Order: sequence, then structure tokens, then C-alpha cells
Amino acid sequence: MTQVAEKPRKISASLVRMVDVALHTDGRQNSPATKAILKQAKVLQCLYQITEFLNDCNRPFPEIMAEIVAVIPKGLRHPKHVSIRLDFGGVTYLSPHFKSSPWMMSSDIHCGEDSVGHVDVFYSEPSLNKTVPSFTPTEQTLLSEIAKRIGQNYAARHETEALNNTANRLSLTLEAATVGLFYLDIKGHFLKVNSCFADMLGYATDDLLTRSLDTVLPPQMRETDNPLHHILHGDTGEPYHVTCDFVCANGSHFSGDMSLRLEQTKDGGIDCVIGSVSKRSNGPDSAENEARMQAHLRSAEIEIVTVLARAQAHRDPYTSDHQDRVAKLAVSIGRQMGMRGIQLKNLELGARIHDIGKLDIPSDILSKPGALTPQEYDLIKTHSAMGSDIVASAILSPVIQDIILHHHERWDGTGYPDGLVGTEISLESRIVAVADTLESITSHRPYRPGRGLRIALDIIREEKGRLLDPDVVEVCIAMGEEGYFDWLIVQ
Ligand SMILES: [Fe+2]
Repeated sequence: MTQVAEKPRKISASLVRMVDVALHTDGRQNSPATKAILKQAKVLQCLYQITEFLNDCNRPFPEIMAEIVAVIPKGLRHPKHVSIRLDFGGVTYLSPHFKSSPWMMSSDIHCGEDSVGHVDVFYSEPSLNKTVPSFTPTEQTLLSEIAKRIGQNYAARHETEALNNTANRLSLTLEAATVGLFYLDIKGHFLKVNSCFADMLGYATDDLLTRSLDTVLPPQMRETDNPLHHILHGDTGEPYHVTCDFVCANGSHFSGDMSLRLEQTKDGGIDCVIGSVSKRSNGPDSAENEARMQAHLRSAEIEIVTVLARAQAHRDPYTSDHQDRVAKLAVSIGRQMGMRGIQLKNLELGARIHDIGKLDIPSDILSKPGALTPQEYDLIKTHSAMGSDIVASAILSPVIQDIILHHHERWDGTGYPDGLVGTEISLESRIVAVADTLESITSHRPYRPGRGLRIALDIIREEKGRLLDPDVVEVCIAMGEEGYFDWLIVQ
């Protein structure tokens, strides 16, 4: 491949001015001393221009080679009678109207130990003075210096390119990492962070570069246990590992394992601190495990309630049926009052075994056809506390245990066992109390037949705000009047 050199497009303006002044302001241009100076100036100007071309990192190397070929004649004695050939990197660059001749000088271009090209200069005719060679020592030195600078520049460009490639690879590696990575200066300012670390903290990468490590650590840690202090002032020189909280852009925290290590300069000083952060397992995996565990507990809870209800059904089918109907009523009322999901499920489970304590009450008292004596009534009143004891060691939601213990508490504080008043009683227990009352009035008892739904709703209305929660009563009556509880009558 051969290229014909173009004329140089850029010449150092200050140097041209300086040389022009030297060439034209001295009226004694023809004196031997002036001639010697002017020759030297031409050589220096040529060399300066070539150096300037080579130092222009933004221009491709082949373009610079073509410029050099065009400039070399200016440093020679007879620029109009010279041809230049520059072989470099598999490309041959020629001066305009190139013509080889026997009168030539050549200089190899070296990159390190390797010869990577050569530059040749041809005069179109021999020296007029047959006693001197065609090329002066100055011209030979100039050519040698040009070849040397081309080789050095090529080597430097090669090294810079290799460094840039390494930097690019490092940057890609940094970005591909699945842990947070960062560099800090010795004051703790972020010099570089990867996207993973920025994402963990909820910052844009550029935002983090205006911050320091301190600003993403909890305040107490900055003051009393600063990890940067440990790594900068520790004696071991070993990496420093710590598990700590990190403060995100939105103020939330996460726990992470951080490692810091010092990067030293060649002379043993501190260049920077390299850090990595792995988020502790409070991420999606852990959330999944937590959800699985909750589902498992919920399943066990339902199993326990079902077993207890079944055991009670064997011994006391009347109470068992009562609990099922109360549960059905309570769920209807609870849903109407806005309960959903686990809250509604807890209400149902609590209602299904709210009288579980009656397992400890003699069956002849429970099924006594006549009126109870005060002693018998007092004994029955213990069933809520008894029930609470029965389920105390079971893995049941506190809401379920509360319904068992407090479903006989009354709005005005006259209930048992704790005499709670108003909203001291949980909403679930207040709903079960209304459902319990409604079911009891409408169902048959050993000592009396069941009364109609209308009568039951009237009685409940009378207890609104006295024994029973007024809001729950209101919802219950509205639902009863709309026919939600008509199934109670068909038993
Ligand atoms: Fe009860």
C-alpha cells in the first residue's frame, strides 16, 4: 500500500513566527554566521513540526506519517530536489512526484528492539561538490532523529492503547460484577463505583461520586467505628471486613458485608481504598423463605383449630354446632366491616373454637334443661379462661387466643373475665360477642326453644352501646334486615 503525502495542515504558528523573524529581520543574511544559524533553524523548525504532529493524539497514525513525509524536505538543504519514502506498518508513504535515485540516505525506525520501518531520502542529483557526500552530517542527524521520534511515539501510542484496553476491560468487569464495588480516596470520597453498588443504595452512579463512604453509613458508625479509619490506621495491612448497615437514598437501611483494602503506590504510599459490598440475605430469597414459613404456620394453625373443633364435636355436638354458626355469622359481619385476608381468617378460626373451654365444664351442667344455679353459672363463666389455658401452648395467632379469652367481655365493662370496656376489647372479640348473642337467641336451648330472628335482632338493638359494640350491632342489624341471616331460622 502506497500513499502520497499531503501538505501539512497544521504548523506551530509561534515557531513559524519566530523562525521568520530570524530569517528576515537580520539584514546580513549572507554572512557565514547567519547562514549557519538559518540552516540550524530550518532543521529545528522541521523537527519541531514533526514532533508536534506526533504529539497530536487525536489524529490517526497514518495521517501523521503522511504529514511527516511532506515536512521532511523543509529541513534539508535542497527541498525542491528531494524525494521522501517512509515505510511503516506495512504502508509506504511517498512525497509528491517521488523519484528514487542512487543519492540516498536511510534511517531505520525502531520500536523497542524491533525494526518496524524506515525512512529514506533521495536527492535527484549528486552533490555539486564531488568531495563531500550528498548528505551533510546535519541532514543525517535530522533523519536519524525523525526516525527515532517516530519509533518512540509509536511505542508510546502502543502502550497507551494497551492501558486503555486494560482500563476498558476493568471497567466492564466492574460493571458486570454482582457485588457492589468502589474506589475511595484517602478521605473516603468515592472515586468510582459500579452500578451494582449504586443500585443497592438507590443512587445514580454520578450522585455517589459526589459523596463519601460516611454518607451511606449510619451516623453512630461514622463516629465510633469508622471502617475507613480501621483500614487506614490498622497495623496489619490486611483487608478489613465488617458487617454493617448501609443507608439508602430513600432513608431505608440494608445490612451488608463490606471488605476494604488498601491499594498502594509504587513507592509504598496509599493510592486508594478498594471496597466491595455484598448485601446480606434479607433479599428476595429470604422474603421467599419468610413467606413459605408464614404459609407453613398458617397451615399448622388451621390444623390445630380443626382438631380442637373436631374433639369438641365428639364430646359436645351442641356447642360445636353453635361455634360453627357463630363463625359463619362473625365472618359475614367482619367482611361487611371491611376485614379481609388473614384478619378475616383469624376471626373465623377464633370463632370456631371460642367456647373450647367448655371441654372442662361438666356436660350435665352444659345440657341442664332447667335454670342454672348461681354456682353453676359461675362455673360456666370460667370457660373463657379455661379455653385460653387450653390453647396457651399451641402455635395460634394471639388474635385467636384473644377471641377465646374475651368473647364474653361487654362494651360497658360488665363482662368477664377481665371486665374490659369499649375498645379495650378487640374488634374481633366484639364481633364474636354480637354473633354469639344472635346465634344463642335464635337457637334451641335445652331449657327453651329458639326464638325468631326478628326477636333476636330487636334484643341486640336494645343492647347497642350497652353490652354490645354499637358499630358492630348496627352492621349486624342492617345485614339481618337485608336477609343475610335468614339461614339461621332454618336449622
Ligand atoms: Fe362462650
